[in-house]
Amino acid sequence: MNNIIKNIGIITSGGDSPGMNTVIKTIVNITNNYNINCYGIIYGYDGLIKGNIKKLINKDVNNINNIGGTILGSGRSKIFKTKNGRKRAYNNIKKYNLNCLIIIGGNGSLTGSMIFNKEYNIPIIGIPGTIDNDIYGTDLTIGYDTALNNIIKIIDKIKTTIDSTNNRIFIIEVMGKGSGFLALNSGISINALDILIPKNNKYNFKKLDKILTKWNNNIYNNIIIVAENKKIGESAKKVYRYIKNKFNKFEIRYLILGHIQRGGSPTYLDRILAIKLGLESIKCLLKNKFNFVIGIKKNKISYIPFKKAIKNNKKKYDKNIKNIYKYFFLKKKI
Ligand code: F6P
Repeated sequence: MNNIIKNIGIITSGGDSPGMNTVIKTIVNITNNYNINCYGIIYGYDGLIKGNIKKLINKDVNNINNIGGTILGSGRSKIFKTKNGRKRAYNNIKKYNLNCLIIIGGNGSLTGSMIFNKEYNIPIIGIPGTIDNDIYGTDLTIGYDTALNNIIKIIDKIKTTIDSTNNRIFIIEVMGKGSGFLALNSGISINALDILIPKNNKYNFKKLDKILTKWNNNIYNNIIIVAENKKIGESAKKVYRYIKNKFNKFEIRYLILGHIQRGGSPTYLDRILAIKLGLESIKCLLKNKFNFVIGIKKNKISYIPFKKAIKNNKKKYDKNIKNIYKYFFLKKKI
């Protein structure tokens, strides 16, 4: 049983994701049963550096499961990337006598945790919270399902105008910072004409060329989903220019969905995932087990070393999902 942990710090970092609040609530409510104090770090690692830290009690987290974003605030800290920034963060950990940090975030945030843990030996538990779903070792990340649902709801709405012309191509760029999960799965669900995901920062237009060359109005759909690459908005424009230069028979429009994808109330799946991972993080700290990311793989809790969880190991797409696309558009036989 735990005999070290008395005070824990909770950080939400990077791009906020729907479901982060459910993790916070779960941790605060459950640790309360063990007389462990919870401190919320405001606006990510910057809050730790500046000492922007607030004690959290049950009353602070009432009725937050349905609220998207994070009540603690989030952010991408430039100062935390410096040695001096991390030293200042460490000083505040000492000042508040924090025995453990729980970091809820994506790739960048968990990379920061790994470095901090190595430098100062602070016990850390990572929880994957990002709409990008690009954390290795967990099937899903918190916020991803909500973002997917947001995307398909918006596309369902926009389809009435898209379908009202017979030679219009609509390019829709979705987020995901090059990981492609949002693009692939939203694209399949809306039966997109093509799904473009960058590989080594390049898009392959071969398939799109074939499809557009034999275009007729009875083709399944006229929406192309593009996964954003490094910079929001660039990819949709790139695909727009490509089609415009090569095929002059279409009217082309593009839409960059942007931050609306990250908004709103978390779905059932994200809330359940957040509760399970929040609960598991407490189980781990009560057993003094730290320094990994907690995820769920094939319905089982997984403990992923920081180094494995982050970008270096590119997470693979589900083959079955990829095949669905081939049945529709590449006429692959079942
Ligand atoms: O990592 C989450 C994410 O939403 C990415 O999909 C997107 O590229 C990025 O954050 C946008 O970041 P920001 O909110 O800082 O513009």
